[in-house]
Amino acid sequence: MTHLPGTEESYWMETAEGPVHPALGDGLEVDVAVVGAGVAGICTAWELARAGRRVALLEADRVAAGVTGYTTAKLSAQHGLLYDRLRGASGAEGARHYARSQQEAVEHVGRVAAELGVDCELERVPAHVYAESEEAVDALRTEAEAAREAGLEASFVRDTGLPYPVAGAVRVEHQAQFHPRKYLLALVADLVARGGSVHERTRVVSLDEGEPCRLTTEAGYEVVCRDVVVATHYPVFDRALLFSRLVPHRELVVAAVLPADRDPRGAYLTQEGNTRSVRTAPYGDGERLLIVTGEKFEPGAGDVGARHERLAAWTAERFPDARITHRWAAQDNATTDGVPFVGPFRPGSRHVYTATGFGGWGMSNGVMSGRLLSALITGDAPPWASLYDPRRLHLREAPALLKAQGSVLKHFVGDRLPSSHVDGVDEIAPGTGALVRAGGRHCAVYRDEDGVPHAVSARCTHLGCLVLFNDAERAWECPCHGSRFAVDGSVLHGPALRPLEPRALPGTEGDG
Ligand code: FES
Repeated sequence: MTHLPGTEESYWMETAEGPVHPALGDGLEVDVAVVGAGVAGICTAWELARAGRRVALLEADRVAAGVTGYTTAKLSAQHGLLYDRLRGASGAEGARHYARSQQEAVEHVGRVAAELGVDCELERVPAHVYAESEEAVDALRTEAEAAREAGLEASFVRDTGLPYPVAGAVRVEHQAQFHPRKYLLALVADLVARGGSVHERTRVVSLDEGEPCRLTTEAGYEVVCRDVVVATHYPVFDRALLFSRLVPHRELVVAAVLPADRDPRGAYLTQEGNTRSVRTAPYGDGERLLIVTGEKFEPGAGDVGARHERLAAWTAERFPDARITHRWAAQDNATTDGVPFVGPFRPGSRHVYTATGFGGWGMSNGVMSGRLLSALITGDAPPWASLYDPRRLHLREAPALLKAQGSVLKHFVGDRLPSSHVDGVDEIAPGTGALVRAGGRHCAVYRDEDGVPHAVSARCTHLGCLVLFNDAERAWECPCHGSRFAVDGSVLHGPALRPLEPRALPGTEGDG
């Protein structure tokens, strides 16, 4: 729980409402079905419609309202300190391909927004990765040189525009920031105008990968198509076991109104202090909206309220004139080698593709994925396609892979983690949740504000890890691959497709 001021909603969600699209109510035959209407799915569907394909975009919830509605919405080819690492892992050409594909995505948004006449608050800004400690300066200088060698206009600087001193920063010119929902809702409207079909509240529950491919929705309707794109953030129907090479994390966001003359006029990131990301957006007259993201943690790690308060305190200390108006949380997955998986779904796939593992850089990666997947499907792959191919497996992934799998194992046998369990329902305070053993099984019990317990199975329906309670957002979270469930067990976020089963507690009635 937290007592921070402001509304518990994403600013992007609050300020851009989209039309309702009907749930699929009949069978459908198209050229390409795109599953998942976040940034990657929308961009892919739109590119394909523009290329003349008959496209269906299928979303389990609402368009651009999942992870994409809760982003920081930086549009940048600078992704932390990636270029020096990439140069070592994929060679100079790999780093050049990465920089080119990401910078092209940034430019593409500008071109498309102009072409469609979309006011998506697109602003060109320099991006910075900075450090406050002098020990980090050598690494920043090396990164600036690697990013420049990769083709970006990068330099090492001491002056950043931030209102607090830093030891140094890598500055990359010609980056951008925008209102993600204003841009993506306009793409969806244009997709519909081009004859594409968009269906919300349409959860796809099975994929038959053949010629043609067949998808089945939860309501039992079939979509027949030549190609399928699985753009569900964490890939569902994961026969290539990509989940074992993806690590989920959550981050918290606060937004605060700032006098316009205090705007640092750039995008910023530091990996110090459990990461802090800073940008601003247009707001009222003479004001800007400061958006600060940070406090990275594993889903289910707990203490979310305290983490949010730390982030708010950091914001108040660094930007004393800022008044907090909104707060929310974001989730993403990182791949074990730091480069997203975009391309054929598994080694034998001829007509099924995926895009995932954006590592917190969903905007440029989502736009890049749309262009890449559309090009793969229309038979015109760019020279950098192989860099993102999910079928790659680098030996240097091995340590990160083992670490990720060790974490999964720990949460699968989570009954040995005493901190997640209480001895009885009476120990659970109203408005909170904990795990309880009942009848030899693990129950996830939420006690509502009236004191009524609501019990569901604590075994995640994806692969059976034990879920944990998020106190600030009142949700059950799976630490293994990031599935999230409401307190009644319904799925908020995959890869889980099925809800947590209701459970009866000894001596309680009602929730079964
Ligand atoms: Fe995979 Fe829960 S998300 S086991």
